[in-house]
Parts: sequence; structure tokens; C-alpha cells
Amino acid sequence: MRNISLIFKQFSKTVLLLAGFAILGFSAHAQGDATKGEALFKANCTSCHAVDHQVVGPALGTTVTEETDDKWLYKWVENNTALIAAKDQKALKIYNQFNQQGMTVFGSLADADVANILAYVRADWKADQAKAAAAPAAGAAGADSGPSSFVVFALIGVIVVAFIVILVLNKVIGTLEKVVLRAKDLAPEEEVAVVPAVDRMAVIRKLAKNKKLVFFVLLCGTIACGSWAWVTMWNTNVHQGYQPEQPIHFPHDLHAGVMKIDCQYCHSGAYKSKNATIPSLNICMNCHKTVKTESPEIHKIYDALGYDPKTMKYDSTKAHPMQWVRVHNLPDLVYFNHSQHVKVGQIRCQTCHGPVQTMKEIYQYSPLTMKWCIQCHKRTEVNYKGNAYYDNMIAVHDRIKRGEKVTEASLGGIECGKCHY
Ligand code: HEC
Ligand code: HEC
Ligand code: HEC
Ligand code: HEC
Ligand code: HEC
Ligand code: HEC
Repeated sequence: MRNISLIFKQFSKTVLLLAGFAILGFSAHAQGDATKGEALFKANCTSCHAVDHQVVGPALGTTVTEETDDKWLYKWVENNTALIAAKDQKALKIYNQFNQQGMTVFGSLADADVANILAYVRADWKADQAKAAAAPAAGAAGADSGPSSFVVFALIGVIVVAFIVILVLNKVIGTLEKVVLRAKDLAPEEEVAVVPAVDRMAVIRKLAKNKKLVFFVLLCGTIACGSWAWVTMWNTNVHQGYQPEQPIHFPHDLHAGVMKIDCQYCHSGAYKSKNATIPSLNICMNCHKTVKTESPEIHKIYDALGYDPKTMKYDSTKAHPMQWVRVHNLPDLVYFNHSQHVKVGQIRCQTCHGPVQTMKEIYQYSPLTMKWCIQCHKRTEVNYKGNAYYDNMIAVHDRIKRGEKVTEASLGGIECGKCHY
């Protein structure tokens, strides 16, 4: 059964992929470069737009796919105020529909850049549509994902325990039989069928004298207590799954998942420094000045900033810092640098932090133990091609081989980060 469902899953995946390529290949619009467009879109547009739903501005998937006049879209993105000032009908209509909020003017983008963005939006929208259409089939195939390794181990555990229980019972029955046989030898024939109640204590005493049985019971007890103590001690100070109550219930699944806001938008530090950093509330205000203004959760942002949504004014005397509770916490004796892993090592946030884009609220996904760090360092291949640091290492290595003078400076010993936090 499992093999058939696996083959079916593989097959449906292939069909989906082929369909995706076909749609992309034959699309009337596909002129720009969607990968370049994706980067531009994420850098400039995701703060106000998503492909499949309204954020601050309209959902771009349908509008951009239905709009046939790409020239108009170039003009709109590069200078929508000019279009509105020129009383362009289409521009006025959408402008009024969105309460004359006005969109940022992107004078720095060329027509080719906008074409790339449009190509990305259209490709992403078509892929979404294809996925939605294929969802029922994929769901049916996905339902039978087979037993997880946890279930397998649990089953093996149950079988081993059952085996031990049977062995013990066998032994006990054997002993009891011996006892009964001996009692038979002593007692008159007719009393043998029923073991008298008074004899029970004698039986227990006899059992206690059976050294093998006593040893076995003690051994089981020691193993159980020992493994409990071992597991408890091993997990001291490991906070995997830790999810403290936060002052604002900030939903990562909505922001990073549904709205696909890049992690970098809020945690820019992760790419350029040791700390990933928690965003300041001003970043939230880029959207929440106008989004969900009635929500009590959003009012917590306003309170902390001393912002009055009625007058739309800030009062800095009422402002106070937001007390987020830190989730991930390495002890001070460990030096961990985000940019080394994210930027240089090219490791995705999700490898260490788990599926953040589906987390309702953030929790600690990895154990953050030394074993965890070491295991990854043993298994991960370092990509040294095109990396100036490793080019330098190779150059130094060659000099060492030739027996030339090498200073600590040439090994990076005067870079600030080698001595300073
Ligand atoms: C500051 C928020 C903001 C940013 C950033 C922004 N937009 Fe907009 N966009 C809007 C708003 C609001 C509207 C609705 C019209 C209006 O009020 O001016 C809009 C409308 C549009 C429309 C017209 C949709 C239609 O129905 O015809 C397009 C196309 C568009 N934006 C594309 C983009 C692209 C591409 C980017 C990135 C380069 C971008 N926008 C960045 C806020 C923004
Ligand atoms: C719109 C802004 C925003 C985006 C986008 C965002 N985050 Fe966050 N993130 C926050 C805020 C605010 C907190 C602090 C509140 C909390 O812990 O829930 C946080 C907390 C975290 C934490 C826990 C920090 C700690 O205390 O240890 C991790 C890990 C994290 N984010 C990872 C990510 C990843 C990975 C992504 C991208 C998939 C991402 N975030 C996208 C705003 C954002
Ligand atoms: C790019 C725009 C954007 C940014 C930046 C942003 N949000 Fe949001 N956020 C939204 C939108 C849109 C929704 C509403 C989604 C929906 O329910 O339709 C939302 C919903 C929420 C909600 C749920 C509100 C409720 O009552 O359901 C909370 C809480 C929230 N945001 C907090 C924050 C915080 C805190 C930050 C800053 C760290 C932040 N957001 C940054 C766009 C943004
Ligand atoms: C190699 C594993 C790893 C990767 C990859 C990684 N992180 Fe972290 N992250 C950690 C560890 C470990 C901590 C705890 C650091 C500490 O306590 O000093 C942490 C802490 C954080 C924190 C909270 C504290 C801080 O440093 O400001 C945030 C926010 C965060 N990570 C976000 C991200 C984002 C966003 C990405 C992707 C761009 C990312 N992380 C990639 C391991 C990782
Ligand atoms: C997901 C895998 C992964 C995990 C988990 C991880 N690392 Fe790394 N780490 C790497 C990779 C890959 C590099 C090499 C990056 C490069 O190319 O320089 C690296 C490099 C480093 C370096 C620099 C080493 C040098 O020679 O300069 C330090 C220090 C480091 N990691 C500390 C940690 C600590 C501390 C933890 C645990 C809290 C950790 N790492 C967890 C993958 C990981
Ligand atoms: C080889 C190790 C080493 C390197 C590399 C190094 N420093 Fe330092 N730095 C030190 C030591 C030790 C001190 C403390 C002694 C002192 O104040 O003179 C210090 C002190 C400082 C101080 C003064 C701090 C204070 O509170 O007085 C600053 C600022 C500083 N370093 C910046 C840098 C910068 C920027 C770089 C990179 C260009 C750098 N350092 C590289 C070892 C180093």
C-alpha cells in the first residue's frame, strides 16, 4: 500500500511541475525575469502588497494578470502621482477606491525592473492557482505519509516490554508450580486442589528466597530509575519547545507565512551582525498605522509608542519600551554569530528555528545544546568557492607550504570580531 501511495505521490508531483512549466512557458505575459522580479518585489512592494490578498494596497495577483496594458503599469509604479495629476481614469478609479492613500513613487525603477516584478507576480499567482486546483489530489496522497520514526520506536519499545513481561511471568509461573508441587508432596491428597489462604504468606516468603527472581526485580527497578535520572539530567537547561507568553501575540504565520514578508524586513541584523535583533515598533507602524486599527493587540503597539490613532500624533512622554520575552537564550560562555551562519554559511533561518512561517506564536524549535552545534558542524559541508575568506586561507596555506613568513594578521588576526564581541 505504502509503495503504491509513494509512487502516486511522486507521479502527481511530476505532473504538477510539468503543468507549472507549461503554464509559465506559454503565458502571454512572461517577458521579464521572475527571479530578479521576486527580489525587487520583496525589497520594495511586500510592505504594502501581497500577491493573493489585500494588505495596504490591493492584491496584485488578479489586477496585474488581468491588466493587459503593461505600459500603463510601468507608468503607475514609476510615477503614479503624475498619472493621477493627469486625471488618468484608471488611476483615479483605483486611487479613490483606496481612500486616496497614495502609493510610493518608484522613480528609481526602470521599465525593465517593473517588467521583472510583473513577471514574478504573474508566475506566483499562476503557481498559487495551480496549487489550489491540485490541493485535493495532493491532500489525498499526502494523507498516507506512513509511520513516523517516533511511532516505529514506540512500537519496538512496546514489543520489548511485552517480551520482558512474558519472560518474567514464565519464571513466576515456574516457581509457583514448583512451590505447589512441593506442597503436594507434604499435604494429604484431597487438600491439594485448593491452596489454603494461610499458605499465601509462605508462598511469598518462598518467592523472596528465590535469589534469581529477587535479582531480576531489582535489576528492572534500577534500570527504570537510572534511565529516568539520566534523561532528566541530560535535559536540564534544555528549553526545546519553550514558548513564553509575549506582551503582544505577534503571529509569525500571518506576517512571514501568509503575507510572505521576508525575515530580513524585521530581523535585518541576522544578515550583518552577531544578533538577529527584534524589530522596533516603528517597523510595525509602516503597516499598522492603517491596518487593523481597531484590534486591541494593535492598540498595545499604539500605547507603547504613545500614539493616538484619532489625532494620528505621537506623544513621546507616554512612550515606553515593549517588553518582549526572549525565547532563545544561549549561556554567556557561548559565542554564536548569525551573519556567519546566514550570510557566509548560507543556512536558512528555518534550519535552526523551524517552520516559523507556520507558527502562530514563536517557540524554541532546536535544543540549542552543544551537541546540536557540534553535530551540524560535523555534517555540514562548507561552501568555500567564491568566498574571499577561504581564498585567503588557500593563499596562506600555499605560503606555509613554501616555508614563507606568515603573520597572524594574514590569518585574519586584526579583524575586530576576532577579539571583540
Ligand atoms: C506605501 C505602500 C505601497 C508600496 C510600498 C507599494 N504600493 Fe502599490 N499601491 C498602494 C496603494 C495604497 C494602492 C492603491 C492606489 C492608491 O491608493 O494610490 C496601490 C496600487 C498599486 C497598483 C494598482 C493596482 C490596480 O488595481 O490597478 C499596482 C499595479 C501597484 N500598486 C504595484 C506596486 C508595485 C509593483 C510596488 C513595488 C515596486 C508597489 N505597488 C509598492 C500602496 C503601495
Ligand atoms: C513583521 C515583522 C516580523 C517578520 C516578517 C518576522 N519576524 Fe520574527 N519576530 C518579530 C517580533 C516582533 C518578534 C518578538 C516577539 C515574539 O517573540 O513573538 C520576533 C521573534 C522571532 C524569534 C524569537 C526571538 C527570541 O526571542 O528568541 C525568532 C527565532 C524569529 N522571530 C524568527 C523569524 C523568522 C525565521 C522569520 C522569517 C520566516 C521572521 N522571524 C519574520 C517580528 C517579525
Ligand atoms: C507589511 C505590513 C505589516 C507589518 C510590517 C506588520 N504587520 Fe501586523 N498585520 C498586517 C496585516 C495586513 C494584518 C492583518 C491580517 C488579517 O487578519 O487580515 C496584521 C495583523 C497583525 C496582528 C493580528 C491582529 C488581530 O487582531 O488579528 C498583530 C497582533 C500584528 N499584526 C502585530 C504586528 C507587530 C507587533 C508588528 C511589528 C513587529 C507588525 N504586526 C508588523 C500587516 C503588517
Ligand atoms: C545555525 C543556526 C541558526 C540560524 C541559521 C539562524 N539562527 Fe537565529 N538564533 C540561533 C541561536 C543559537 C540563537 C540564540 C542566540 C543567543 O542566545 O545568543 C538565535 C536567536 C535568534 C533571535 C533572537 C535573539 C537575537 O539574536 O537577536 C532571533 C530574532 C533570530 N535568531 C532570528 C533568526 C533569523 C531571522 C534567521 C534567518 C535570517 C536566523 N535567526 C537564523 C540560531 C540560528
Ligand atoms: C545548521 C548547521 C549549524 C548549526 C546548528 C550551527 N552551526 Fe556554526 N557553522 C555552521 C557552518 C556551515 C559554518 C561555516 C560558515 C562558513 O562558511 O564560514 C559555521 C561556523 C561557525 C563558527 C565559525 C567557525 C570558524 O572557524 O570561524 C562558529 C564560532 C560557530 N559556527 C558557532 C556555532 C554555535 C555556537 C552553534 C550552536 C549554538 C552553531 N554554530 C550551530 C553551521 C551550523
Ligand atoms: C588582537 C585583538 C584585537 C583586535 C583585532 C581589535 N581589538 Fe580593539 N581592543 C583590543 C583590546 C585588548 C582592547 C582593550 C585594551 C584597550 O582599551 O586598549 C581593545 C579596545 C578597543 C576599543 C576601546 C574600548 C573601550 O571601551 O575603551 C575600541 C573602540 C576598539 N578596541 C575597537 C576596535 C576595532 C574597531 C577593531 C577593528 C578594526 C579592533 N578594536 C580590533 C583588542 C583588539
